[in-house]
Amino acid sequence: MKILAVNGSPRIHKNTGAILGKIVEGAKSVGAEGELIHLQKLGAFKGCSSCFSCKLIGGKSYGRCAARDALTPVLEAAHEADILVIGSPFYMCMETGITRCFLERLCFQYSPYTNKKPPLSPRKKSCALVYTMNIPEKQIPEYGKDYVINMTKSYMERLFAPCEIFLCTDTKQFDDYSLYEMDFFDPVAKDLRHKTVFPADLKRAFALGQKLAQ
Ligand SMILES: Cc1cc2nc3c(=O)[nH]c(=O)nc-3n(C[C@H](O)[C@H](O)[C@H](O)COP(=O)(O)O)c2cc1C
Repeated sequence: MKILAVNGSPRIHKNTGAILGKIVEGAKSVGAEGELIHLQKLGAFKGCSSCFSCKLIGGKSYGRCAARDALTPVLEAAHEADILVIGSPFYMCMETGITRCFLERLCFQYSPYTNKKPPLSPRKKSCALVYTMNIPEKQIPEYGKDYVINMTKSYMERLFAPCEIFLCTDTKQFDDYSLYEMDFFDPVAKDLRHKTVFPADLKRAFALGQKLAQ
């Protein structure tokens, strides 16, 4: 059983990376093999270029992304994985740009432009989407983030498997808030939450990894 986790945060060892790391650790603790890939560490890659090779009738890349760049091995690993986990911070109420590039290339290749055919994706045992964000959970609908989450979840479920949603909210963004021009957030409250709630988030992440792999 192979779990692939893909980190779409440019800050590889911060909130999103830490949660994904714990999910992989949890999955490994019940016997899965695991890999965490940080998109930011890859070389250059792009989103879908609309070449349509993946839908060319009789084409050699039918059903698979024909673009060749640093994302190619990640798409290959995602194709092979039994469990797929994708994590992103919210950036301007959406997944990050690098996550969107990955999602476009991952999902579009498998999505036929016809209702007469099922998706061309390999089914997975389970999937999860991890979202981290500055705002508290209760404000998610206010900013339309629930729409984004549900839309990406529906793609994952149509293509792969039932998809868990893991939210890590009200995150600590800076080690030292005093260095930056910022009065949106209370640094003391952020620090307290990071010390009291974030460790519980990490435990939840570990448990999710176990659940996905069991
Ligand atoms: C460019 C940018 C845009 C952001 N936009 C949002 C946003 O729309 N909503 C939100 O809650 N947080 C937003 N944030 C904060 C991050 O989502 C939050 O700090 C997240 O936990 C960072 O993840 P990381 O620690 O893995 O980098 C933004 C951060 C940046 C740098």
